[in-house]
Amino acid sequence: MNNPTNVNTSRRRLLQYLAASPVVAAGTKEAIAATMAEMQTRSDDPYIWRPFDPNYLIEKPEDALDVFEFEPVAHKNVGAAHWGFMSTGADGEGTYRANRQDIAKFAMRSHRLRDVTKVDPSVTLFGHTWSAPFLTCPTGRNGMYHPDGEAGVGRAAGRHNIPQGLATNANFSITEVNKARNGTPVLFQLYQQSNWEISKSLIARAEREGCKAILLTVDGLSARKDLQFNRAVRADTRLCATCHEVRPNNPKSPILSSKSTANFSEVPAELWDQKFTPDKMTWEYVKRVRDFTKMDIFVKGITDVDDAVQCAKLGYGVWVSNHGGRNEDTNRSSIACLADIAPAVKGKVPIVIDSGFRRGMDIVKALSMGATMVGFGRPYIWGLGAFGEAGVDKVIQIMKAEVIAAMQQVGATSVKELRPDMVIRAL
Ligand SMILES: Cc1cc2nc3c(=O)[nH]c(=O)nc-3n(C[C@H](O)[C@H](O)[C@H](O)COP(=O)(O)O)c2cc1C
Repeated sequence: MNNPTNVNTSRRRLLQYLAASPVVAAGTKEAIAATMAEMQTRSDDPYIWRPFDPNYLIEKPEDALDVFEFEPVAHKNVGAAHWGFMSTGADGEGTYRANRQDIAKFAMRSHRLRDVTKVDPSVTLFGHTWSAPFLTCPTGRNGMYHPDGEAGVGRAAGRHNIPQGLATNANFSITEVNKARNGTPVLFQLYQQSNWEISKSLIARAEREGCKAILLTVDGLSARKDLQFNRAVRADTRLCATCHEVRPNNPKSPILSSKSTANFSEVPAELWDQKFTPDKMTWEYVKRVRDFTKMDIFVKGITDVDDAVQCAKLGYGVWVSNHGGRNEDTNRSSIACLADIAPAVKGKVPIVIDSGFRRGMDIVKALSMGATMVGFGRPYIWGLGAFGEAGVDKVIQIMKAEVIAAMQQVGATSVKELRPDMVIRAL
């Protein structure tokens, strides 16, 4: 199959060669440079083999035809370092790319001659029936993309009766976001803290605020290599102190201030600097959380079938994820992991999956393969960065409409009717 990324890369190399050539006229070189700049802004998503016009930016959320159309608008609005933080993957970004590429390796066996006039995309999970089988994943510090931040995401997701994961390191607190959601509390994502007293305070707050589930992230190890992100930081001319505390000896080098994270407001100030020791995450730690709270626990970051079976044995929800390709570069996609994990878990515990889901049909494939619900991160961030809460609202509307259409196309009137035998490996 023609790989559009390779085509883009070769084209870019040719343009670079021409731009450097002494025989090419100055005016032509300027035109080439402009074309190269345009190509940088194009989505490198392997599904988009027909690149859309990079100069066409939607002016309002209602104009968006799919979630990808929010991306260039958000890119224009968000500073280079923040954009780099959000949009890149670890190391050579192989996992990040595989997440998208591998969804195309699974195909649906659509069933015709069924009445699909009425389709019900609802799913019951976390003690509630939701209007669609997807959720917005926890992503740290949403204020980076728009002042509406997690509260804006909450208003949009709450309005559509969609679950929302709230990151430990959010700019709005659980209390504020639950208020914004107006009825259904967030799912609270927990990063292990070095001091158990801090973790306890965060978990207790989530439970007191009515949260039904803790998403315990186990793949956030400290040694990830943010290569592309750090390249993007080089390109950002702003002073980091505008958003971060900076190291006194280097005003370009930011410290992520613990004080800027809203969920820590109840943690005693003297403990603030002891946050985050993810390398100590073990099954014993999960048990410790289990013994401390009555909330459901979903172990987020599962990619291996043995770990998934262990979760099922111990009664923890399985959250298949590679963090959107941000933490590791094994090249194994999330959907490939699901193909192993779902048959082994045998429906004993719910399975949530994320990483790379961008279209309704992507979601329908994962549900058919055994996921109970599907999460996405970057698409709602694009919506937020482009138009704030209104952008997130439209992303959710688009995803829901696409899921319903995909269910009709494959011949399912409810999520329960999406079965593993409806998916085959594509050629
Ligand atoms: C900018 C960004 C920040 C994230 N922050 C967190 C976080 O704080 N905690 C966490 O468990 N996952 C975090 N994630 C991972 C998401 O929860 C989710 O696994 C991922 O975004 C799914 O992949 P997708 O972006 O391809 O949809 C983050 C992802 C992104 C893109």
